[in-house]
Amino acid sequence: MSESQPVFILGAGAIGSLWACSLAHSGVETRLIPRRVSDDSITLTLTHQGQNITQSIPQQSAKQISRITNLLICVKSYQLEQALLSVQHAVNAQSRVILLQNGMGHKELAQKHLPHAQLFLASNTHGVFRQSQHQFVHAGWGKTLLGPANINTQAPEALLAQLHQALPAVTWEADITPLLWRKLAVNAVINPLTALYDCNNGALLEHTEWRQQMHQLVIEMRPVIEYQCPALKHYDFVTEIESVAATTAMNYSSMHQDYHLGRRTEIDQISGYLLNKASEQGVVMPTHQDIYLRLTQPTES
Ligand code: PAF
Repeated sequence: MSESQPVFILGAGAIGSLWACSLAHSGVETRLIPRRVSDDSITLTLTHQGQNITQSIPQQSAKQISRITNLLICVKSYQLEQALLSVQHAVNAQSRVILLQNGMGHKELAQKHLPHAQLFLASNTHGVFRQSQHQFVHAGWGKTLLGPANINTQAPEALLAQLHQALPAVTWEADITPLLWRKLAVNAVINPLTALYDCNNGALLEHTEWRQQMHQLVIEMRPVIEYQCPALKHYDFVTEIESVAATTAMNYSSMHQDYHLGRRTEIDQISGYLLNKASEQGVVMPTHQDIYLRLTQPTES
């Protein structure tokens, strides 16, 4: 039965560790597939509202695993293709694979490399950051919306219930596409601006000039999103983005964390994806373009 199958988590970064700790803590058999396996298990600590949850989680390299029934892929969006290829041999038509990346374009990549799997796409709003190597802080309690990559795929009820119990709320969305575009809109505004201005999410609302820039980014991307996802015609992106910034005010966005730690960012899968779609449509997005270039060009020393 699927309920007794372990949940594999590919990627032991902030989101992967949040899920691994939460699932193991709620009694679900959980296994990590990290990039490098040094030991049979890894001890992770998750701090949530001042309380520490410490879990020892078995880990395996993808090569060691012959069959995967439940898989959460939590790697960065630019690592997704490599991650999909690494588990290809263990995935079949019974496998349920959930993609938790920021940005867009993942569905097509997963359909190409795991054509037989039951694929699901998730939109995550939990805020979590790495405090030290194996310590993570759950800084903002969000939610996970989950839907099928292919509209005909049934909801994985038992897995959904396990996920929801471990880290509520997990909600099923039969048509996840508009939600993914809304998430892309949020990420295309908050993430690059917080990286550029070296601030937390809430600070964007406090500076008139930054707030105006948020509005300008929305004006520019609206025709692109409305064309790609007509269900979002006249959608109030400004209210949604400002409300995410307000509810996650103290958090530093994932792009802020990556950029200021000198790590690769997801700008290509977020702003870059939008800029490509805009260019296909003949739409110009000068503010997005300018911020994209500022965040991708090497800084002068
Ligand atoms: O990418 C992120 O950091 C988050 O999705 C959010 C909420 C946009 C900013 O913290």
